[in-house]
Amino acid sequence: MTRTCLAVVLAAGDATRMKSSKSKVLHAVGNLPLISHVTRAAAAAGVNKLALVVGRDGDLVTDAARAGIDVPVAPVVQTERKGTGHAVLMARDVISEGFDDIVVLYGDAPLINPDSLTAAISERSKGADVVVLGFRADDPTGYGRLIERDGELIAIREHRDASAEERAIDFCNGGVITFSGREAVNLLEAIGNDNVKGEFYLTDLVEIARARGLKCVAIEAPEEDMMGCNTRAELAEIEQVWQARARQAAMLSGVSMIDPSSVFLSHDTVFGNDVMIEPNVWFGPGVRVGDGAVIHAFCHIEGADIGPGAMIGPFARLRPGSELGEKSKVGNFCEIKKARVGAGAKVNHLSYIGDAIVGPAANIGAGTITCNYDGQNKHLTEIGAGAFIGSNSSLVAPIRIGDGAYVGSGSVVTMDVPDDALAIARARQETKPGRAQRLREKISAIKALRRKPASESDQ
Ligand code: UD1
Ligand code: MG
Repeated sequence: MTRTCLAVVLAAGDATRMKSSKSKVLHAVGNLPLISHVTRAAAAAGVNKLALVVGRDGDLVTDAARAGIDVPVAPVVQTERKGTGHAVLMARDVISEGFDDIVVLYGDAPLINPDSLTAAISERSKGADVVVLGFRADDPTGYGRLIERDGELIAIREHRDASAEERAIDFCNGGVITFSGREAVNLLEAIGNDNVKGEFYLTDLVEIARARGLKCVAIEAPEEDMMGCNTRAELAEIEQVWQARARQAAMLSGVSMIDPSSVFLSHDTVFGNDVMIEPNVWFGPGVRVGDGAVIHAFCHIEGADIGPGAMIGPFARLRPGSELGEKSKVGNFCEIKKARVGAGAKVNHLSYIGDAIVGPAANIGAGTITCNYDGQNKHLTEIGAGAFIGSNSSLVAPIRIGDGAYVGSGSVVTMDVPDDALAIARARQETKPGRAQRLREKISAIKALRRKPASESDQ
């Protein structure tokens, strides 16, 4: 018979130390909110339902928690922050639906590994009543200490309430605790708030369970998996760990990185095979990179679909809605936004291509600008297959440059250009023979007058 499991995810904390106008769990790692990492891990561990305890920004936190998972999420509101024990009890109605196992997770610990959750839950089926995931801390300050005797967990002591002897213990509570769904409400209701903070500590559940003859154990997980986020400095540390893992996974799947530590990935970055990434590249959300593409140094890329064999950068910026065809090129100091660049097309230098469709094999000269915005609306620029746009041209949208058309350098094009036509939209050149020499002489003469000796000009 398969067991049923409810995950109770706590995300109602005040998070004063983040000094933020938004809930802590909405801050992101790998461009995904902390809470989403946690709920995805719970879903991956196979829980049947999630009870989400929210406070501030409840709707946004719930939306983030639901995104990307199939497991039902029931939000419950904790209006007053009275501690983790109190927070879990807010989910009393969901807990009472009847589950074999309850697993409590903290919404601010996004590196939790689904395998550790599964290990904790399966430990219960082996006879333990309460299972806590612990870790050995390099610096245990601030964490609850796991006090063991004869292989069993006898108590969790919060740092503030711990004696000097207990503080010397480096085995800490990671914040994941599992117990019986049938006895949950009963155990949780027995938690009091007689401690330094005057809070209802979930961690007191261990001593309460033992007093009732139940068996409690702690199992160990890697410290990195249990990192909690209470400050922005900790958020940055968690990001580092997450990035290191994501880069490792990308490289193992066939991506080359010259300097992995300078490449920043998103939770949803997708790579084909044989992609090469040079140093200092940032991937925002929603990027796919096709087989064999090369991302040169210093690119900033988000919401972009990069075709196979495409070459990007150095110093290119791809904004949302960029679709680059097979073997296309977007070179240095170019910005692409909501634009399709056809197969083999080149946008090589200093250009802005926004709200545009660039046909296959078109060549966009240096410094070309699509003038897409009239102050109120965005307009489309269409550039046909094999068209050639001369350098330093402005294409004032809405506009269509036909297939095979040429635009002379320095043009400001305001009218459509038919297929295979040549458009030149700039002042005609005037050349005045000898005029440069005369100009030079005139300037020299003026300069000489100004340079009169000091004695003359002083009198
Ligand atoms: C908690 C544990 C500690 C453990 C540490 C691991 C308790 C009493 N202490 O301490 O043993 O070592 O996590 O990181 O559980 N929350 C609510 N409502 C509340 C209080 C908290 O939803 O009333 C949520 C917070 O948003 C957070 C989580 O519960 O996601 C943990 O709360 P936090 O205040 O961070 O607990 P710690 O002091 O870190
Ligand atoms: Mg915490």
